This record gives sequence, structure tokens and C-alpha cells, in this order.
Amino acid sequence: ARAERLATLGELAASLAHEIKNPLAGIAGAVRVMADELPASDQRKEIMEEILDQVHRLDKTVHDLLAFARPATPALAPCDLHRVLDRVLVLLAQDPAAMTVRIVRVYHSGLPPVHADAKQLGQVFLNLLLNAVQAMPDGGRITLRTALRGVNGADGDGAASEARAVEVRFSDTGPGIPAPLVSEVFTPFFTTKPRGAGLGLSICRRIVEDHGGRIEVESPPGQGATFRVVLPLGGADSRPGGLP
Ligand SMILES: Nc1ncnc2c1ncn2[C@@H]1O[C@H](COP(=O)(O)OP(=O)(O)O)[C@@H](O)[C@H]1O
Ligand SMILES: [Mg+2]
Repeated sequence: ARAERLATLGELAASLAHEIKNPLAGIAGAVRVMADELPASDQRKEIMEEILDQVHRLDKTVHDLLAFARPATPALAPCDLHRVLDRVLVLLAQDPAAMTVRIVRVYHSGLPPVHADAKQLGQVFLNLLLNAVQAMPDGGRITLRTALRGVNGADGDGAASEARAVEVRFSDTGPGIPAPLVSEVFTPFFTTKPRGAGLGLSICRRIVEDHGGRIEVESPPGQGATFRVVLPLGGADSRPGGLP
């Protein structure tokens, strides 16, 4: 019944999101036309910028809601996680808030490709990185670590052929997540940010689970937050018929 309720809610959210997106685009277009007609010195231009800013924010929330309500089925292909991560880091560097954050990459050499949707994984990694950046407004460090996981989750320093999964870990030096809230962060609409939608991590979890993987968080007091994404290995070792 819960799954059914969620499915109905998903349908509703998706159609509502579509209904909202078009008028928003209309509002933005109209305001832009008005703004363009004003001389550069006109103070009303600033008000219009503010309107556009708010419209943009609404559009992003609706976009997130849509992604949450109607996740696309992953288009699986062999995927070099380091390349996906590096591409996302280029995007992140364009965010002014990321300027005070140092990124440290500890990549496992010879990480085998995973069978995954690179675009969707990129979305997961970007969400995690943006959360870390937002948690450290005064700057800090994000450490990105990749590793192989062996049988029974054993540390995968062994050969790639013995590994069952790969892991990507995002550790930050921010304030971390208070213990009572750790279990809440993946809940849709949970946010501690005045302007947050609270959908980022629920979308991440949805995507990772659609890939047969899992996502976890740890936040020991005073040691920032660490998000861990574990993805089953595809390629030569993958079981026939794809991912579990
Ligand atoms: N790296 C992090 N450090 C501290 N808190 C975090 C971190 N990542 C997520 N959180 C907490 O989890 C909440 C939910 O995150 P998310 O689902 O991405 O929504 P949003 O970013 O819109 O708040 C955040 O509001 C924050 O309280
Ligand atoms: Mg977020």
C-alpha cells in the first residue's frame, strides 16, 4: 500500500511539476523582455533580476521534484568512475561557493569500469559534492576516495578480478551531521537549509539503488561527514543478465 501511495504521489508530483514548469518559463521570458527594454541605469532592472533569480530557484525545485518522482531507467554502459568524477569536478569549480574548498583525490589505480549510467552517477556525485561545499561556507577540504570492495566487503587491495564492487567515498571537513539527524538525511524533503528542497540525497539514493548499489553516511562527532557510494562491478565479472 505504501508503494502504491508513493507511486500515486509520484504521478501527481510529476504532472504538477510539468504544469508549473511551462508558466515559469513564460514568466521568466516576459520579465527578460521587460528588463531588456529598460535603460541600464534603471533601478527596476535590479528588481527584475531578483524576480528571475526566484523563478530560477522555483524551476530548480520543480526539476528536482520531477527527477525524484519520475526517475529515468538507467542506461547502463561501461563507465570509468574517475572520468565521471573529474567531469563533475569541472562543473563544481564553476560554483563560486566551491572556491574556498580544496579537493583531494585519492583514486585507486586500475579501478575497473562499472556498468552504470554515467549521467545519473554524475548527478549523484555532484549532489554529494554540492552538499559538502554548502556545509563548509568558510572553506574546508573534500577528499574523494575510490576503492575496490572484495567479497564480504573486505578491503579490495586485491586484484580487480576478485572484487565485487567499487566504492566512492566523499569526506568533508564541515560540521558533520548531528547524530539524531543522520538517519533522516535521505528522507525526501528533509533539509536543514533555509533555501533547500531536501530532495538531493533522496534522488541520490534512488539512483544508486537503481544501479543495484547502496549509499551510506557516517558522521563521527567533530570529523565532518562521509558519504559512501558502493556500486556492484560490471564488466567481465558481472553475473549474466546484468546487475542483481
Ligand atoms: N556533507 C554534509 N554535511 C553536513 N550535512 C549534510 C551534508 N550533506 C547533507 N547534509 C544534510 O542533509 C540534508 C539533506 O540534504 P539534501 O537531500 O541534499 O537536501 P538539501 O541540500 O536541499 O538540504 C541537508 O539539508 C543537510 O542537513
Ligand atoms: Mg543537497
